Amino acid sequence: MKRYKALLITGASAGIGKELAYALAPQVENIVLVARRANKLETLAKDLSVRFGVNAYALPADLSVSGAAAQVFEKTIELVGRPPDILVNDAGVGFTGEASEIPTESEVKMITLNIESLMVLCKLALKPMYARRTGVILNVASIAGFQPGPYMAAYYATKAFALSYSEALAEEARPYGVRVLTLCPGTVDTEFHFIANSKRGYLRNLLSSSPQGVAWEAARAILLGFPDRIVPGPINKAIVFIERLLPRFVITHLAGKFLNPRK
Ligand SMILES: NC(=O)c1ccc[n+]([C@@H]2O[C@H](COP(=O)([O-])OP(=O)(O)OC[C@H]3O[C@@H](n4cnc5c(N)ncnc54)[C@H](OP(=O)(O)O)[C@@H]3O)[C@@H](O)[C@H]2O)c1
Repeated sequence: MKRYKALLITGASAGIGKELAYALAPQVENIVLVARRANKLETLAKDLSVRFGVNAYALPADLSVSGAAAQVFEKTIELVGRPPDILVNDAGVGFTGEASEIPTESEVKMITLNIESLMVLCKLALKPMYARRTGVILNVASIAGFQPGPYMAAYYATKAFALSYSEALAEEARPYGVRVLTLCPGTVDTEFHFIANSKRGYLRNLLSSSPQGVAWEAARAILLGFPDRIVPGPINKAIVFIERLLPRFVITHLAGKFLNPRK
């Protein structure tokens, strides 16, 4: 028998989200896959059903539109007959450049996707999880959440929200037997960087992890129940540790050097 009844996962059409769907599929009976690209979700749903005997549903939605997250949650209940007992909030985008030049509309949509939709889905999932006294939420933040990021200022701020919100929820949820985990990857080799138009220097290539490795580490934390905060890879763990020791203006200055697309 499988351990979980229903998984709702956003950002499932590519990258870390897609790999998380593969990593968790053996343990769940129903998976609802959310992203904008319907064809990719349908292909993935078919493959997951054949390989793992899971009922997989493609649910295309644009979570950068206010109100879409609540509709996704309602449709998930219609599809699988119950609220999810695992929620993965993975969908996210970022933009690189000077804040004064990145189109405002793009960043407002990013905030709806990276913050509002994540928050709405958490709030909707928590109540039924509390009532059942079981459930897991995994929110994908980033090591970007620990510091300011000049030239990706709004993106870094959205990840600071995801990290802080998630860790606070973990504390609130613990007495109910519900776990809220936060995944904080460093650079991962996915489409994210093409969309973000970020710099592909030697250092970034050196520090890159695979989406499969990151997803497996997160899936293991979901299944084992710890740690609450997953920072994949020793280099990323070291970066997060060292950042705590240095003054914040030094960290911000160094991040600006690393992220500046013109250098
Ligand atoms: N790659 C990195 O270096 C890195 C590092 C730290 C944290 N992260 C975080 O990891 C998460 C996953 O990123 P990734 O690296 O796997 O990037 P990715 O390969 O670009 O995947 C992003 C996923 O989000 C979905 N998505 C984007 N916009 C959406 C929208 N408006 N509505 C619904 N779904 C949307 C995409 O699907 P569609 O395009 O089909 O909608 C895709 O499935 C993000 O939250 C990102 O911030 C990434």
